Amino acid sequence: MKKSIDVLTVGDCCVDLVLSSGDVVPEFAQKEKIVGDYFLEMGGSSLIFAAQAAKLGLKTTVIGKVGDDAFGNLILKRLVDAGVIVDYIKKDTSVKTGLTVHLVKANDRAMLTCTGTIDVVGRRDIPDTLVEKTRHFHIGSYYLINTIRPHYKDIITKLKASGATVSLDTNWDPKETWDGGLADILPMIDILLLNENETMAIARKKSLDDAIKTLKAIVPVLVVKRGKDGATVHAGASTYSASAVNVTVVDSIGAGDCFDAGFLYGYLNEKQLDICAKIGCICGSLKTREAGGVKGQPRLNEISRYLK
Ligand SMILES: Nc1ncnc2c1ncn2[C@@H]1O[C@H](COP(=O)(O)OP(=O)(O)O)[C@@H](O)[C@H]1O
Ligand SMILES: [Mg+2]
Repeated sequence: MKKSIDVLTVGDCCVDLVLSSGDVVPEFAQKEKIVGDYFLEMGGSSLIFAAQAAKLGLKTTVIGKVGDDAFGNLILKRLVDAGVIVDYIKKDTSVKTGLTVHLVKANDRAMLTCTGTIDVVGRRDIPDTLVEKTRHFHIGSYYLINTIRPHYKDIITKLKASGATVSLDTNWDPKETWDGGLADILPMIDILLLNENETMAIARKKSLDDAIKTLKAIVPVLVVKRGKDGATVHAGASTYSASAVNVTVVDSIGAGDCFDAGFLYGYLNEKQLDICAKIGCICGSLKTREAGGVKGQPRLNEISRYLK
């Protein structure tokens, strides 16, 4: 079958309400405090990833649900503006759009999440006809979308049978057990994208080098994202590094998800792995120029400037 979808992902559909500067630490006994600033933006690792992938020209489809509410409309607008195909995002009147409230202090943050539509996609929402049309499947927020996690093995088996490739960015496990069937699907993953802490947690190693050794024996391409120090790719006996771009950082919400999209843009266009990492770093770093996960994301023409 002709593959009309470059990238398919399951959406952890939510918005981020970020309160910053001023006194962001709440106090009970009905005390009112004044915060300095706020913004409201589409959140969700998989959604931010999808928006970045579409901005690079990949035909990107999200499967998910949003509530029939203002936050759901915001998500749909951001995805459509980015060029994401939203035909498989349903409005569900029985559930509220997910929300995370971030309270941001100078060097720390606290988050309060109402799960809502983050965790509602079931196996039936991913028809086999869609799987057959997909070139590449990206799993983000592995530990947040509980409803779909038990089905990934079956979905990946079907994807592989039709010639698709699969990437996984677990992101953080809020329960910090780093289990949930991960060991079963890791050998089926083509590209594993993690930050340094996630790499050590998943490999159950205290040293990053040991963790990398463990994981690169399981997956053909392991990408370790290293914040302002860029990223390193481990593929068999080869290692490639890419530097971050020097930018004035506003926040790093979604930087890793934008990196993933940039890396995959390179991978799906058959670029060498060092170039994939470079494109990933450009996307991750440029994202940090602006607040929230979406605004700073570069489009394709901007990437080529930094690749020269
Ligand atoms: N402070 C920063 N300065 C420049 N680039 C950054 C910064 N933080 C992140 N990035 C870019 O975004 C990429 C992914 O961010 P990182 O924090 O490593 O991943 P994650 O968000 O998954 O933990 C990095 O590889 C880098 O290219
Ligand atoms: Mg991440």
